[in-house]
Amino acid sequence: MIQFILNNKLIKTEKSASYILLDFIRYDQHLKGTKSGCREGDCGACTVLVGTLENGKVNYKSVASCLTPLGNIAGKHVVTVEGLNADKGLNPIQHALDEHAGTQCGFCTPGFVVSLTGHALSKNFGKYDEAINSVSGNICRCTGYKSIERATKDIADGLKATEENSQDWLIKNKYLPEYFYDIANRLAAIENLPRNKNGKIMGGGTDLYVQKPDEISDAEISFALNNPELKGISEENGEITVGAAVTANEIMYSDIFNKYFPEIKTWFKLISSEQIRNAGTVAGNFVNASPIGDLTIFFLALNAELTVTNNENKERKILLKDFFKSYKQVDLNKGEIIKNLKFKIPKENFKFNFEKVSKRTYMDIASVNTAVSYTLANDFIEDIHISGGGLAAIPKYFDKTRNFLKGKKPTKENIRAASDILLSEVSPISDIRGSKEYKQLLLKQLFFAHFE
Ligand SMILES: Cc1cc2nc3c(=O)[nH]c(=O)nc-3n(C[C@H](O)[C@H](O)[C@H](O)COP(=O)(O)OP(=O)(O)OC[C@H]3O[C@@H](n4cnc5c(N)ncnc54)[C@H](O)[C@@H]3O)c2cc1C
Ligand code: FES
Ligand code: FES
Repeated sequence: MIQFILNNKLIKTEKSASYILLDFIRYDQHLKGTKSGCREGDCGACTVLVGTLENGKVNYKSVASCLTPLGNIAGKHVVTVEGLNADKGLNPIQHALDEHAGTQCGFCTPGFVVSLTGHALSKNFGKYDEAINSVSGNICRCTGYKSIERATKDIADGLKATEENSQDWLIKNKYLPEYFYDIANRLAAIENLPRNKNGKIMGGGTDLYVQKPDEISDAEISFALNNPELKGISEENGEITVGAAVTANEIMYSDIFNKYFPEIKTWFKLISSEQIRNAGTVAGNFVNASPIGDLTIFFLALNAELTVTNNENKERKILLKDFFKSYKQVDLNKGEIIKNLKFKIPKENFKFNFEKVSKRTYMDIASVNTAVSYTLANDFIEDIHISGGGLAAIPKYFDKTRNFLKGKKPTKENIRAASDILLSEVSPISDIRGSKEYKQLLLKQLFFAHFE
């Protein structure tokens, strides 16, 4: 049995753990505010908040309910638009959207309201850029967005009235209804889903539910997001360790990553949307083995090493650069899962850069993406790792270019000579994301950009 709280109601259901949350909300609970649009994570009409009890507090994140199985919300608080009003009137977020004509046909509006409430509940509340980022996965076909941007500005400004982000303040000021006061206590009394060690492993489900929805509808699933052994980011013994079920947003907002990669937010905001980054995990990105997986390209350039484990807790290590065998084929035996990834703590004079070009800047997959990390010792490149996506059947690690640049100075001449070797290491094919010639040109230009 799966238990969770839906708005103010305790749910106990015998539905399959792989049953989609959106269908449960609309068709089992008849809450029709959460809309069914694309069912592929792209439109945001189905956005709900998922609150997880952590150290006595409930931490809320927005997710696409169309890609969320019940197994991933067991023991949690799910909030739909119906659960957001203190009384019959509009709450401040709804009021701002109404005031600025940020709603016309209204189909997208519940999704925007829920995402912006996610912003109000986040650590970064009141910052306009972050408020805009919170709706990065919400599409509106009517308003042209300017009215929504103005409403978002008002909402961000309104939240600045409090210095400390506190649910109590949000309740007192009618952003949230009073039942939120008691959610932490109520969640503490709910059972989590027991772990199914033998089932097919799922992270956020943001790839599986798009690629193979039928294959998993009746399958036994092991839910990685519920497994504390696969969570957490830590720094010790000269290495940074990232659990396999850590999400893209957990990396983007982690203190450790922000310390060593101060530009991480600029790069990670190019990856999917807030809702998808709140669910999609690193291991899911590696194992779906897309040649343009952004997290894969990021960690390939750090020469990350994976720890893989099986049902008998036997572990083996494998470098991410050796993990991809051929198109969509990875080095995992039956029963094996990824436990974590590790990479060396960056030294002094460490440089890192990530570049991604897609048809749209945001909320799109890459035509070409690439990353580089290198360390300088007395102006010479001590070591370097270069990765690139969209150029071959697998995410590419550039071995020959690395060997050429190791021990050399990153001068214009050396980088130009290295770019010729780089291009000789791949032969991209023309596809929907660009012609072969365009991708080659992109790779060369982005490689130069790494050293600018
Ligand atoms: C709207 C949308 C936009 C997207 N945009 C981007 C983008 O810009 N860039 C990008 O790179 N990706 C993008 N994606 C793809 C996807 O979100 C990411 O690849 C994400 O990281 C997948 O993680 P997940 O946890 O959701 O994977 P899941 O769907 O849960 O799993 C994917 C695969 O990994 C396996 N798996 C999961 N965890 C483990 C483990 N611990 N060990 C072994 N196998 C495991 C699963 O069995 C499955 O085969 C997008 C997806 C959507 C829906
Ligand atoms: S229905 Fe479009 S994101 Fe879920
Ligand atoms: S108001 Fe119609 S889709 Fe946004």
